[in-house]
Amino acid sequence: MRPIEQPILARHVHRVFFTRDVFVPENPLLAEVLGGGGQTLARVLVTLDDGLAQAQPALTARIEAWFASRPAPFILAAPPLALPGGEAAKNSWVLVNEVLAAIAQLRLCRHSYVVAVGGGAHLDVVGFAAALAHRGLRHVRLPSTTLAQADSGVGVKNGINAFGRKNFVGTFAPPFAVINDFALLDALPVRDKRAGYAEAVKVALIRDAAFFDWIEARTRALAGFERAAVETLIHRSAELHVTHIATGGDPFESGSARPLDFGHWAAHKLEALSDYRLRHGEAVAIGLALDTVYSRRVSLLDPAACDRILRLLEQLGFRLFAEELHQRDASGSFVVLGGLDEFREHLGGELTVTLLAEVGRGLEVHAMDPEIVGHALEELAWRARPACGLPA
Ligand SMILES: NC(=O)c1ccc[n+]([C@@H]2O[C@H](COP(=O)([O-])OP(=O)(O)OC[C@H]3O[C@@H](n4cnc5c(N)ncnc54)[C@H](O)[C@@H]3O)[C@@H](O)[C@H]2O)c1
Ligand SMILES: [Zn+2]
Repeated sequence: MRPIEQPILARHVHRVFFTRDVFVPENPLLAEVLGGGGQTLARVLVTLDDGLAQAQPALTARIEAWFASRPAPFILAAPPLALPGGEAAKNSWVLVNEVLAAIAQLRLCRHSYVVAVGGGAHLDVVGFAAALAHRGLRHVRLPSTTLAQADSGVGVKNGINAFGRKNFVGTFAPPFAVINDFALLDALPVRDKRAGYAEAVKVALIRDAAFFDWIEARTRALAGFERAAVETLIHRSAELHVTHIATGGDPFESGSARPLDFGHWAAHKLEALSDYRLRHGEAVAIGLALDTVYSRRVSLLDPAACDRILRLLEQLGFRLFAEELHQRDASGSFVVLGGLDEFREHLGGELTVTLLAEVGRGLEVHAMDPEIVGHALEELAWRARPACGLPA
């Protein structure tokens, strides 16, 4: 019999909005976004990252007041559900189940909304649950860290860690909308404010030399977390990430290449080796530095560009070495090198790592020389000596 073959065309417009104080009653944005669903009654479950709820204790009441101040069709199905945030939240199914149980108990349907407000880990957990219930509820993301607003929260993926592997279980599920509310960042600890810069530098390095120049010219403002500089950085970084997803030709990552994961093979391994002591963005800064030095050592990148990149990362406040880089296995190999294998396995197919040809232009390679990676990481160790408290 002849095979049946039909293209299935799915059109999705990915929308990322920018605002301040989305939950003040006079801000119309959330109502406009939810109203875009077009139904007469919209039941909404709001989930809240505990870390954010503690940093902004008035937020829960503000969310409830926002819904109370709106006439139907938006109905808060239950008080906001606060859940533990941070990487630990992704290390089991417990919170995914909790969100699924709430969706079931509240009898939410496929036209209901799950609005998640929190860091990248919280959005990954809740987005995953929202994608599973009824095979996908409408999911609105309100990222509350610099990293999530500049990168992870504006994408189309979710998931949790399992079997010791980062993001081992998850789905591709474009959210109904993303709202970047800059006021959510106000009480963010300095460490998390900075962490997101790593993803902005990453995407500038592989995609946009002018953006790299812009970051470099505002290092001081960014290191001091001046609001205007931070907001512009987030906007451009989000734009570059979304543009890549929408126009890069592989939104659901079927191929082997993933340029947005520049620096990430080592970063993901370092996060796990540090038991998630290192934030994702902090590990990415180290991963970027490692692959930048490697690019110079294999003569892809000129030394002046390499130095410029390392200096920028340092001036933004990143430490470009972690003790975990020095861990060796029983055979004497650096454990971090195992990250290359895990990276290949996660992507599928042939190992494809993005290196740098110049600022603004990545270059794909299919192998990395372990010995040169070793030299690159020793160079980072040497460079970080004063910060390690070792004799100069
Ligand atoms: N889905 C994707 O496409 C994608 C892409 C990149 C990264 N990620 C994931 O994102 C996660 C990292 O996210 P992150 O950097 O946002 O960190 P995070 O979610 O781990 O949050 C860091 C800490 O900040 C707290 N917090 C969050 N918002 C706060 C606020 N406004 N004020 C005070 N505290 C707040 C959290 O409770 C947590 O303790 C990683 O798990 C990473 O794998 C996902
Ligand atoms: Zn990342």
